[in-house]
Amino acid sequence: MTPTLGQTILDYAAALAHFSDMEDGLTCAYLTPAHSATQAQLAKWMADAGMQVRIDAIGNVIGRYAADPSAIAPKVLMTGSHFDTVRDGGRYDGRLGILLPIVVVGALHAAGIRLPYHIEVVGFAEEEGLRFKTSFLASSVLAGHFNHALLDREDADGINMRNALSAAGFTGAGDDAALRDAAVDPATLAGFVEVHIEQGPVLLNRGLPLGIVTQIAGSSRFQVRVEGLASHAGTTPMDMRRDAATGAAEMTLLVESRCAQVPTLVGTVGQLQVPNGSSNVIPGACVFSMDIRAGEDGIREAAIADILAGIEAIAQRRGLSARVERVTPVNNAPCARWLMDQFGAVLKKRGLEAFELPSGAGHDAMMMQRITDVAMLFVRCGNGGISHNPLETITAEDAQLAAETFVDFLRHFRTTD
Ligand code: GLV
Ligand code: MN
Ligand code: MN
Repeated sequence: MTPTLGQTILDYAAALAHFSDMEDGLTCAYLTPAHSATQAQLAKWMADAGMQVRIDAIGNVIGRYAADPSAIAPKVLMTGSHFDTVRDGGRYDGRLGILLPIVVVGALHAAGIRLPYHIEVVGFAEEEGLRFKTSFLASSVLAGHFNHALLDREDADGINMRNALSAAGFTGAGDDAALRDAAVDPATLAGFVEVHIEQGPVLLNRGLPLGIVTQIAGSSRFQVRVEGLASHAGTTPMDMRRDAATGAAEMTLLVESRCAQVPTLVGTVGQLQVPNGSSNVIPGACVFSMDIRAGEDGIREAAIADILAGIEAIAQRRGLSARVERVTPVNNAPCARWLMDQFGAVLKKRGLEAFELPSGAGHDAMMMQRITDVAMLFVRCGNGGISHNPLETITAEDAQLAAETFVDFLRHFRTTD
């Protein structure tokens, strides 16, 4: 394999980072002009790499590298990740899992190598939940689990998803039948594998470039709206206030203390706002997000039950109301041992440790796991393992190693049947 695969992956990621919703940094929210430009660029690179490209009804860009013509009833090995980002995010989260397979398929194509199965590389259009406060939109369509009611969900500017699809040039935008037709037939799949930057420090601290994921932690997200009474900051005595923000602060501390009780449990309030707040007005409303995750569904569900009960109790004690909207529960997703072992065999053959680790971050593979067996290959994250941050980084050497490992995996890949 050419030693430039790793550098090409980094160059592609740098090129995509120019398409952004913000001036000084990378934000690529679902269906913005930057998102469409990214999608078009991915489609071009896929075509250049010898793939047939299609864009589905939710905006996924899918490249197929057809099986060797002698293959009998070839199945599809699907791989990919998302190209949307969080606000001011890193350039590898998601994108590495699209760019690496594109570069690898390009190398196979250049060498005239076809495999006994089709490879489909998917650039998932939405995973992060940034614009519509609901995540996994793209993989849920492919997996046939899309919630069509979400088409009426509005972004922060009051634009619903149907209209956003239409503005991005999708004819028949939000057409229910087209979205249903975009689901893949599980019987055609040999499995789904996702390459992803680790987004944490485990591989870095162990001095390992690559790791094999055992399972992906389940997650639940919520939007909470607390209402109290807006009144004068100078004249309202402290014991007569119904302050929505101090109530939300106490709820936030509850999330922290409850989630600190179990090692694999984590809870985050990542958004916290006083809508139309003023410095001299007691907050009459406060809205915040909650993200709660654990490696075991039972642990997550028990924490959620306690936290929701606690929010209600805090609201009552403070004379507030709290309306809780549950956004996206996704259960813990185990990876398939037979696929993990194929990655392990390839790593060992290269003299690398077949190190296994769980994923605390969510991934498109979670949704695909509902219809097929999945596996994930993690690539070491630099800068202390920081992610969802512009400081997120990988090296060209690690990208090269990951690409070569992926080539080996593809060349040795055998389905279960
Ligand atoms: C996706 O990045 C997540 O929130 O884990
Ligand atoms: Mn992410
Ligand atoms: Mn990601």
